[in-house]
Amino acid sequence: MTWDVVELFHQNQSYPIHIGQQWSAHPELLRKSITGKQVLIVTQSVLAATHLPVLQDILKAYQCDVYYLPEGEEHKNITQWQHILEVLLRQGHDRTTTLIALGGGVVGDITGFAAACYLRGVNYLQIPTTLIAQVDAAIGGKTAVNHALGKNMIGAFHQPRAVLIDVDFLKTLPQRDYQAGLAEVIKYGLIRDPVFFAWIEKNISALLAREDAAVLHAVKTSVRHKAEIVSLDEKEQGMRSLLNLGHTFGHALETANGYQHILHGEAVLIGMGLAAELSHTLGWLSTEDLERIKCLLQKITPKQSAYRFPMPDDWIELMHRDKKSRDGKLNFILLKSIGHAEKMTLTDLTPLTPILPTSPLVGEVDAEGGG
Ligand code: GLY
Repeated sequence: MTWDVVELFHQNQSYPIHIGQQWSAHPELLRKSITGKQVLIVTQSVLAATHLPVLQDILKAYQCDVYYLPEGEEHKNITQWQHILEVLLRQGHDRTTTLIALGGGVVGDITGFAAACYLRGVNYLQIPTTLIAQVDAAIGGKTAVNHALGKNMIGAFHQPRAVLIDVDFLKTLPQRDYQAGLAEVIKYGLIRDPVFFAWIEKNISALLAREDAAVLHAVKTSVRHKAEIVSLDEKEQGMRSLLNLGHTFGHALETANGYQHILHGEAVLIGMGLAAELSHTLGWLSTEDLERIKCLLQKITPKQSAYRFPMPDDWIELMHRDKKSRDGKLNFILLKSIGHAEKMTLTDLTPLTPILPTSPLVGEVDAEGGG
């Protein structure tokens, strides 16, 4: 099949986001984005077993080093970032090196941040293998690691040189990760595309069954939205902040759970439901739209979960710590209707407290998280 390309523009430059299937049959897509003779692939052992040999074969003309990141968001931290830099130093990588992130959002974020800092900035490529990374995390140059006190608190804007999205990677993705990624797909419909939202409602069964045509349409539409938003507002001075729908709640939930037991997309899924509730409570969102949103989110909600909700005061404290919070005020992206989101600063927290779920409403079920 032919590959589609979406161009992302930033600061008088641009980079391609290639979307298609069977990437290994198109090695030129990768090679043409590598300028020097050295590469460092950052990946995880589960992925390495299936995809690394193919990548190494494509890159056999290069000095090709590999760093294995342990599984889990809790490893997106300064210690692992430092290990990556140490490999680059020990293996003598120079300014022409290219880092390649082969994996999900955790791999992409930490690899991008290592690339942003090594020798004051080197090239990197994103090969996202999860749905959430393909439609969101790998695009737009947000790189970071977490701190115990907050999610993505240490990072930099550093755009990749190219993104290679092969939707075939999604065929072997665990159902739980796949559904978590669908939350970010739905987000584009909610914030700016009511027609896409209606399409997802109609095609949710095909999407859950991972039918090729439905998955390709969902990924391409999401990528186009993400690239357009970042091209218009790379550094999040305005419209890019709409992508944070559900994230003020979601990041608080992830931090409360120590970045374990809940996937980022699951936290965003819950956060988008809460943002819709808050929008309705404030009189922004109609009951009809709230019901449509709840109904669609319900269809991708895991049946079981092992995370815990914070107590009300902890929710508020965690949300205040988020980097989107300023001057002691809480910022939310809320919905006026399906397809229309706006930023709002909440000074009176009275409408917030009744909608916040607290433990032990959910949890304790299954240490694997279920779904
Ligand atoms: N994931 C949100 C953003 O890239 O801005």
